[in-house]
Amino acid sequence: MTALRVSGLTVTYGPVVAVNELSFAIESGETLVLLGPNGAGKTSAVEAIAGLLPKRRGAVDFLGKDISRLNASTIVRRGLALVPQWRELFRTFTVEETLVAATTAAVGRAPTPLAAVYELFPVLQERRQQKAGSLSGGEQQMLAIARALVTNPRLLLLDEPSAGLSSGITRTLIAAIRRIRQSGVAILLVEQNMEIARAVGERCCMLAAGRLAWSGSMQEAMERNEAERVYFGAHRHDDTG
Ligand SMILES: Nc1ncnc2c1ncn2[C@@H]1O[C@H](COP(=O)(O)OP(=O)(O)O)[C@@H](O)[C@H]1O
Ligand SMILES: [Mg+2]
Repeated sequence: MTALRVSGLTVTYGPVVAVNELSFAIESGETLVLLGPNGAGKTSAVEAIAGLLPKRRGAVDFLGKDISRLNASTIVRRGLALVPQWRELFRTFTVEETLVAATTAAVGRAPTPLAAVYELFPVLQERRQQKAGSLSGGEQQMLAIARALVTNPRLLLLDEPSAGLSSGITRTLIAAIRRIRQSGVAILLVEQNMEIARAVGERCCMLAAGRLAWSGSMQEAMERNEAERVYFGAHRHDDTG
């Protein structure tokens, strides 16, 4: 089954076209990486898919149903969870309060037991009485992912989880993303870090100036140096129509 189908998605900020007629699909259980330089439109795309930004045009189908016009909280209840780029944690909530609050977002679905996310990120269990604002950057990213997992998603959108974090934390995140994938959750991973992209991605889409510049297998992307071509602007936007 197709987990997510995005067709002709266009997102604008006034006169600025951030995402321009973007189309792609993710099969159930698949991990797709969305790559592209700063300002390419990655965050605008995932926030529009999650219902946090209005769509100028286009359709989003999730598990075969149109979610284009649903609000963000309804979309979460359907099983699509976003881990936002800037994590957006409540600094004064403890780790446990953050996770318990997220279980209420899963109303109507069975939330994932806290024990399961603590097993994935043991450091969060050690820190469970600590305030989110006092955690390290890596721990905050783990908490943001755990908060999304508690809603028991079928599809997880991760927006640059490794941004600003050490390579040690990056390896922890890679291991966690692999385990999430093994549990059958489809993943859309926005990344600029090629180490994560190649470690977890099966297919990838390259975004440049709001448009899909290239899509194919992660292996082919590496062999053809597609990322460099997109990042250094050598790519023609009309290559893939
Ligand atoms: N709130 C906003 N208001 C106006 N323009 C914005 C806003 N957010 C993003 N943009 C613009 O939209 C484009 C895409 O940004 P973004 O989706 O954040 O890209 P990425 O996540 O790939 O770095 C950029 O040109 C950016 O300047
Ligand atoms: Mg972004």
